[in-house]
Amino acid sequence: MKKLRVGVIFGGRSSEHEVSVASAAAIFKYLDPDRYEAVPIRIEKTGQWKLGAPVPQALSAADVIRQQRTEALQTVEPSAIVAGTGVDVVFPVLHGPYGEDGTVQGLLELLNVPYVGAGVLGSAVGMDKAVMKMVFAARGLPVGPYLVVLRHEWAHDAAGIATRVAKELGYPVFVKPANLGSSVGISKAKSPDDLHAAMTLALDYDRKIVVEAAVPSAREIECSVLGNDEPEASVPGEIIPSREFYDYEAKYLDEGSRSVIPADLPAEKAAEIRRLAVEAFRAVDCAGMARVDFLMARDSGETFINEVNTIPGFTTISMYPQMWEASGLPYPKLLERLITLALERHADKQQLKTSI
Ligand SMILES: Nc1ncnc2c1ncn2[C@@H]1O[C@H](COP(=O)(O)OP(=O)(O)O)[C@@H](O)[C@H]1O
Ligand SMILES: [Mg+2]
Repeated sequence: MKKLRVGVIFGGRSSEHEVSVASAAAIFKYLDPDRYEAVPIRIEKTGQWKLGAPVPQALSAADVIRQQRTEALQTVEPSAIVAGTGVDVVFPVLHGPYGEDGTVQGLLELLNVPYVGAGVLGSAVGMDKAVMKMVFAARGLPVGPYLVVLRHEWAHDAAGIATRVAKELGYPVFVKPANLGSSVGISKAKSPDDLHAAMTLALDYDRKIVVEAAVPSAREIECSVLGNDEPEASVPGEIIPSREFYDYEAKYLDEGSRSVIPADLPAEKAAEIRRLAVEAFRAVDCAGMARVDFLMARDSGETFINEVNTIPGFTTISMYPQMWEASGLPYPKLLERLITLALERHADKQQLKTSI
């Protein structure tokens, strides 16, 4: 049987480059070599596309962040990845902007190559926390109170915005760049003074900022979704951050954050989470995979959908594969399933009429 050539695109221009390298290392390690031939395609932080070995070794994100790399590889044009490598399917393992946001997915659509995960629209909506919340709300999904602030609005009327934050949300609030991940640029503001510092930080990363009411002593519940038109949800899991909230340090550098899988939840709450996760997946028109993250008020149990991650962390200790493992689907089988879903979705699309 001919092996399927799987192009794994990793690295990328975003601040989540190192996390992506760690995710890709695990994928290279666990792709079944009897069925697949892995083709490493690395995007440098500068945006250059590099083809060929060596594949990254299984490392934690913390190791990758601390590591210096020196080897020289062949630079390729992004559009040459199909013609030049003959890949049958692409697995984009890119977190954040220029990878998880529909840009790489758009390139792959133009090249007409099957790829794992959400398409252009689902990726773009899942990347933008402001648009994502609008879409969830339109579907009647639980979203907490929030405001969207553009850079020019803040520049012209910071005082007016601060008044609205105090009145409509109340402190504390979370201030987030609309289009990032890994908690980069996010801070918790407990007072109007904090708000100014938090806005200044977030505006370094985006022109569009989301300010959200803090969910009181939030529990962080997550759920993995897998499938195309009939998506299924895994058992939910819980993250117990080592710090005040699940910031970049707590995610990747601190050893102290823990996960509990399955999450300690009453059966009906777990069922509700799974149902909401599938609805959120459908709302943003995802495909293949997504990790849906919730924030649950510890005392009242009130639950909000925080976000959909269309390319979740993929190291063997990442939540997305771990929640599937706990649901009976081991890591190598999960990779197979995702590749099959990519091929099915592509084949389905080829049947559409392109003329009348
Ligand atoms: N409204 C909120 N209430 C309480 N905690 C929050 C809220 N929004 C974000 N957080 C905390 O900040 C972390 C990062 O926010 P999130 O929206 O998930 O950004 P990212 O896309 O970078 O993961 C969350 O995991 C949680 O710990
Ligand atoms: Mg998050």
